[in-house]
Amino acid sequence: MSLLEMKNIVKCFGPVKALDGVSINLEKGEILSLCGENGSGKSTLVKVLCGIYPHGEFEGTISYNGEKIQPKSIADTEALGIAIIHQELTLVKELSILENLFLGAELTKYGLLDFELMHYEAELLLKKVKLSVSPETKVEDLGVGQQQLVEIAKALSKNAKLLVLDEPTAPLTESETDILLDLVKDLRTSGVSCIYISHKLGEVKAISDQICVIRDGKHIGTRKAADMSTDDIITMMVGREMKQLFPRETHDIGEVVLEAKKINAWDKANSSIPKVRNASFTLRRGEILGVSGLVGAGRTELMECLYGCYQGKHNGTFYLEGEVLNCSSSRDALNAGIAMVPEDRKRHGIVPIMAVGQNISLAGIDQFQSLGFLDESAEANAISDSINKLTVKTPNAETAIKNLSGGNQQKAILARFLMINPSVLILDEPTRGIDVGAKYEIYKLMFQLVKKGISIIMISSELPEVLGISDRVLVMHEGRIKGDLINENLSQEIVMDCALSEGEIA
Ligand SMILES: Nc1ncnc2c1ncn2[C@@H]1O[C@H](COP(=O)(O)OP(=O)(O)OP(=O)(O)O)[C@@H](O)[C@H]1O
Ligand SMILES: [Mg+2]
Repeated sequence: MSLLEMKNIVKCFGPVKALDGVSINLEKGEILSLCGENGSGKSTLVKVLCGIYPHGEFEGTISYNGEKIQPKSIADTEALGIAIIHQELTLVKELSILENLFLGAELTKYGLLDFELMHYEAELLLKKVKLSVSPETKVEDLGVGQQQLVEIAKALSKNAKLLVLDEPTAPLTESETDILLDLVKDLRTSGVSCIYISHKLGEVKAISDQICVIRDGKHIGTRKAADMSTDDIITMMVGREMKQLFPRETHDIGEVVLEAKKINAWDKANSSIPKVRNASFTLRRGEILGVSGLVGAGRTELMECLYGCYQGKHNGTFYLEGEVLNCSSSRDALNAGIAMVPEDRKRHGIVPIMAVGQNISLAGIDQFQSLGFLDESAEANAISDSINKLTVKTPNAETAIKNLSGGNQQKAILARFLMINPSVLILDEPTRGIDVGAKYEIYKLMFQLVKKGISIIMISSELPEVLGISDRVLVMHEGRIKGDLINENLSQEIVMDCALSEGEIA
């Protein structure tokens, strides 16, 4: 008997059919991955399972341990041992790990909170997820990877038998990812099943027993992971064979347009901790400069200094076209022709309740205004142009952006900054959470831009992407620029070695 059976699930949002008859089957102690392009329906399927879309709001049936279930809320499914960890983390940052773990389920003795017992239980849980920090640590002091582990510990505290992970590794470093994947495998050995959603197909293949592919809300197929190559998964996802992941195109590289000299930056909260140390680099016209390094290497901080939005103490000089550039806000930077697409789209990117279209035209709205009047039809045309060019999957431009799938939100933010025709475009992890097909589109677009003479700085933690797209690669480590390498015959090993080498380029 299967642990879980979802049959012919159909879920509509108004005219959008997010799921169109999807069925999955999961055995005890099995890991099933869901793969599919952005907006294909993966998150929707697990939200149906977890009672976020309650019984009655979708068609089809769910059986758990052989019995039909009709959950009305997430509490109902939690009681059954089904726990979901969302694409966006939901811990309360201001509270400690312990407080988060027992939030709403505090342990008591004689009607009083029993802190000793909670501390003891919390330690056990943290041990299970191999997190060696004190339960009293505030969540905001943890890295994203560690927070993810706390989320899992919380699920385990509720005795989860089925763990649903929606893109858990998107913001994680490689070593954090390894810890998480090992944990999921350990849990499998102890009989916990898992539904796993990720765009990182190598990871999916390594961890799964079964892989289910969804396209446009339809079930394309479920097969044993051992019988599938990543190419097979991609072909099923996009409906055609993708011969090439990185559409590198030749283009001309011109003179130096931007120069950074001896940039230093210190931690926002603690100005005695250096984040960027003596970093100097150049950027040429029409060049794609990849910035590689582990999370915490100082890449985002360095670029925020350039973009005028770094909150902490910093010094050093930037030159644009030979002139000293002094941006004290991102408005200044945009006016100077520098745009930056942020890494954390939820915090710095989208305005959730605003329409997709408004989100796109937000930064470039000036170009549609003259004498205080807004040329609405020009704006609408530009918006629909952007939506088409970037293949943003949305019912229309008026839909609230929060209703789009994660990857499509990312594309909309990218569209926003392209609309202002920057001369320097900084992209911080531009393809995080984006499916292979859309990644390809984004790379194509990057090449179109550099051919027009725009220069691009791309921060990316994915080495294959850095090597597949960049003309030159800066390697950062612990705030220092350790390498400035022309991307010819570069390999992942060379870049990694460079990051960990002793030297530093002046
Ligand atoms: N609350 C909502 N209101 C309206 N439409 C929605 C809502 N939630 C999802 N959709 C639509 O349903 C479809 C499936 O979205 P879903 O979030 O399940 O995609 P996904 O496969 O998880 O994508 P991603 O990989 O980008 O996270 C998309 O077209 C999305 O725009
Ligand atoms: Mg999703």
